[in-house]
Amino acid sequence: MIEKIQTLLASVPTLEANDAKSLEALRIQYMGKKGLLNDLMAEFRSVPAEQKREIGQQLNILKTAVQERLQQLREQIAANGENEAAEAIDLTRTAYPLPLGTRHPLSIVKNEIVDIFSRLGFALADGPEVDDDWHVFSAMNFAEDHPARDMQDTFFVEQHPDIVLRTHTSSVQSRVMENTQPPIRVICPGRVYRNEAISARAHCFFHQVEGLYIDRDVSFTDLKQVLLTFAREMFGEDTRIRLRPSYFPFTEPSAEMDISCNICGGKGCMFCKHTGWVEILGCGMVDPAVLDACGIDSKVYRGYAFGMGVERITNLKYRVKDLRLFSENDVRFLDEFQSAY
Ligand code: PHE
Repeated sequence: MIEKIQTLLASVPTLEANDAKSLEALRIQYMGKKGLLNDLMAEFRSVPAEQKREIGQQLNILKTAVQERLQQLREQIAANGENEAAEAIDLTRTAYPLPLGTRHPLSIVKNEIVDIFSRLGFALADGPEVDDDWHVFSAMNFAEDHPARDMQDTFFVEQHPDIVLRTHTSSVQSRVMENTQPPIRVICPGRVYRNEAISARAHCFFHQVEGLYIDRDVSFTDLKQVLLTFAREMFGEDTRIRLRPSYFPFTEPSAEMDISCNICGGKGCMFCKHTGWVEILGCGMVDPAVLDACGIDSKVYRGYAFGMGVERITNLKYRVKDLRLFSENDVRFLDEFQSAY
């Protein structure tokens, strides 16, 4: 029996397997239930007691040698597999083109608005989208029963005391005025919310840019000049503006501003409903009651404010017909906007 074991042991280093399948066959041949090693174990049982020790040791050596050889072969096969995978990488192939994103059209237009006003000396200001009744309505001189506070327009987060999703960026005005003494010259872009059914022409959220200027001798003429400059920078040198009397609780007098239709140049078209004019913003002189509510002496200071919808300006610049496109994130739509901003 010793001889048999020795011959087997001598042949172990010559065992070969090139793939997982032949390796498994080899394992079964040696280590399987009916394999060579088990045969030897059966034979071992009838070995005379005085030889058991020696033969037992030889059997163990053989078993370890076979296991080690199988493990060696297993590692060789795995390494070959990796080499093959590595060879499959074609380093000469040109790289995949990286898809470049574009800025959202609303961001492009907002950045452009902010850029124009910062060149006119306005600093950027910011405020929370979830705000209290005081900053959104009360400080802005909304009467207790003003319809804008109604459930139909305002999303209430909490009631008594009221916490709301701001319905306009004018809430940033009250915050800035509370925290800073004039001169104040800020521009406040931000998202606002109104409880409206979503359609092509209305959405439950949209974006505004608010402007506020407070100093000693601010007049309506200053407001008009700044807005004319803005309109020309935004829509072209030939743009004309007109101001129509209007009403906002926080400004007195108040106005709405139209620009000459940038699509037909003022001749009249479908877009401007054949009037030659399109409305773009609300504005006015800050009501003294607002200044006083926010801790600014209305006998010393005066100011103007204006607010515009970013979607509206974007529609005019890019003729987007359906407001919903702005929030659907369809890349085919978004890819059309390439810009330096
Ligand atoms: N807050 C007004 C609105 O949401 C816009 C506005 C701002 C009007 C500032 C006048 C002055 O419609």
